[in-house]
Amino acid sequence: MSSAPPSRRSAPAWLVERLRAAGGSVPFLTYMQWALHDPEHGAYGAGRLQVGPRGDFATSPSLGPDFAELLAPQLAQWLAAQPAGEPLALVEAGPGEGDLALQLAEALQRRWPELAARTELVLIEPNPGMAERQRARLAGSPLPCRWLSFEQLAQQPVRGVLLAHEVLDALAVERIVWDGALWRRQQVVLHEDPAAGPSLRLEPGEALDAEMDAQLEPLGLLPAGAQRPPGWCTELHPGLGPWLQQAASALREGVLLVIDYAHEAWRYYAPQRSNGTLMAYRQQQASNDPLQDPGHWDLTAHLCLESLEAAAGATGWTSLGQRRQGEALLALGLAQRLHGLQEQPSSELGELLRRREALLRLVDPHTLGDFRWIAFSRGSAKPSTGAVFLDDPPLA
Ligand SMILES: C[S@@+](CC[C@H](N)C(=O)[O-])C[C@H]1O[C@@H](n2cnc3c(N)ncnc32)[C@H](O)[C@@H]1O
Repeated sequence: MSSAPPSRRSAPAWLVERLRAAGGSVPFLTYMQWALHDPEHGAYGAGRLQVGPRGDFATSPSLGPDFAELLAPQLAQWLAAQPAGEPLALVEAGPGEGDLALQLAEALQRRWPELAARTELVLIEPNPGMAERQRARLAGSPLPCRWLSFEQLAQQPVRGVLLAHEVLDALAVERIVWDGALWRRQQVVLHEDPAAGPSLRLEPGEALDAEMDAQLEPLGLLPAGAQRPPGWCTELHPGLGPWLQQAASALREGVLLVIDYAHEAWRYYAPQRSNGTLMAYRQQQASNDPLQDPGHWDLTAHLCLESLEAAAGATGWTSLGQRRQGEALLALGLAQRLHGLQEQPSSELGELLRRREALLRLVDPHTLGDFRWIAFSRGSAKPSTGAVFLDDPPLA
């Protein structure tokens, strides 16, 4: 991992053009939106990033089907809690390579065929490059599949489960900088140097408006206090409210499960975390420089649990609770699955060792085990909490 980000970075021609058209600078939020989601130049928009151990970064489902096999009983329980006989949907937002959707469809079909018979898969993927790969991956899905936008789904909202696995960390964030007297919005600024060519820099911009300023107090950022020196920087998450609102319009009744990197506000905004949580990933490398090679790196920021809960409450979701992934997967039988590997034929030793390593990575508190599972419900039916969040038994 690189240490402090360099103060200037060269800019690709497309970004120079955009920044010139915008008057020479844009808020970090706009830059992150372009660098990730621009259909032509964005890392996801252009379908450039590959999820998986051999791609740019690994996620839990990309390590193999054990993650989906453990998650499936929880989702099946939530689906089964919907009124009998009604058509159901398993909606996945941001399905990446489509691995998790396919593995869940296969698990449902094999273990709960009656539930599967009335369940469709709905994939929400704003980036055409990614959707193309998902279509190929899900060509053999045992459940019918549709690719829709949230707006399209809102025309005929569904009942069931909406899953957002490592998606909300890809929503563009606002970066804010303390200058010793005021909080300012961080800008990405184009510097035109006739000798060295155009370059990019991160600079504090205008002071926060009253609406953004009002968000700081509940997060412990007002007053900034002597512990935060000038230049101290962090993120706010203005994309959460609109995303949760769209999600609410698409799901008339059921459960939203968010699985992502997240911290409580006290941890997220602790004075010693002086550069927020924003990271860049590419080809299994991590960097804290968001300006290098724009459109070729994944940019990701943790969620703040309190900000997510507040945005969910304001958009009509009822909280079912949250748990660390390690605890959630152990509640769903990960230890038994690990133990069960001993009973597999030793002729498959290579595969058994790979699965053992994957299972241990899923619960490792220093990596994937520290992810949070955060659940919300909506609709008139009594919310079903599920085994992970309370001690109801999941479907066997
Ligand atoms: C980090 S990948 C996660 C992929 C997959 N869920 C996994 O865990 O392997 C993020 C995915 O979310 C998609 N995405 C980004 N912004 C989104 C949004 N606003 N709504 C839905 N999907 C989005 C990206 O194109 C990509 O497919």
